[in-house]
Amino acid sequence: MTALLCCGQIRTCLQTGTYLKSLLIVYHSQSGASAQLAAAALRGAQREEGIDVVLRRAWDAGTRDLAAADGLLLVAAENSGQLSGGMKDFLDRTFYPAIAQEIVIPYALLLSAGNDGRGAQREVQRILSGIPLVAAAEPVIARGEPTAQHLEAAGELGQALAAGIVLGIF
Ligand SMILES: Cc1cc2nc3c(=O)[nH]c(=O)nc-3n(C[C@H](O)[C@H](O)[C@H](O)COP(=O)(O)O)c2cc1C
Repeated sequence: MTALLCCGQIRTCLQTGTYLKSLLIVYHSQSGASAQLAAAALRGAQREEGIDVVLRRAWDAGTRDLAAADGLLLVAAENSGQLSGGMKDFLDRTFYPAIAQEIVIPYALLLSAGNDGRGAQREVQRILSGIPLVAAAEPVIARGEPTAQHLEAAGELGQALAAGIVLGIF
């Protein structure tokens, strides 16, 4: 099967009828730090075959994107000890619709922070446990300006999540 023969919306290969799995990466970024991490995670996820990887800004993402996904990677910053407002808005908009549609998919967290990040981590974990989504990996927190190591860790997280979704291990 080749992804080129498959439609991103319907995600069924026209040639074989095989279902193509999908990873949704939702990010919010003010300064560009979280955007860099999201881009690195996207590149990592795209190293896996047999999965459609969709990148959306939090402002542009909604319940339809969640319903179409087999896994979710959230990328955002900690601001004032909390999850960034843009990502909180996405979760506020999708929380009850996701419960109503019984969306239960694995997720991972990639957080950007000046020197902490644990407040944002606690907050998003608490919210997602209420849907409930299933944590597929330990959260990754990149503290300070993104370094080559942070970008590598982001890529590894994206690839690991994509690989796990393809294999159906979560
Ligand atoms: C208003 C504001 C509040 C912040 N509060 C925190 C904080 O409580 N803890 C922390 O570790 N970093 C904090 N930071 C730093 C950001 O998390 C960090 O700069 C991050 O890389 C921003 O990513 P983004 O610009 O992609 O959103 C804060 C930054 C801003 C602008």
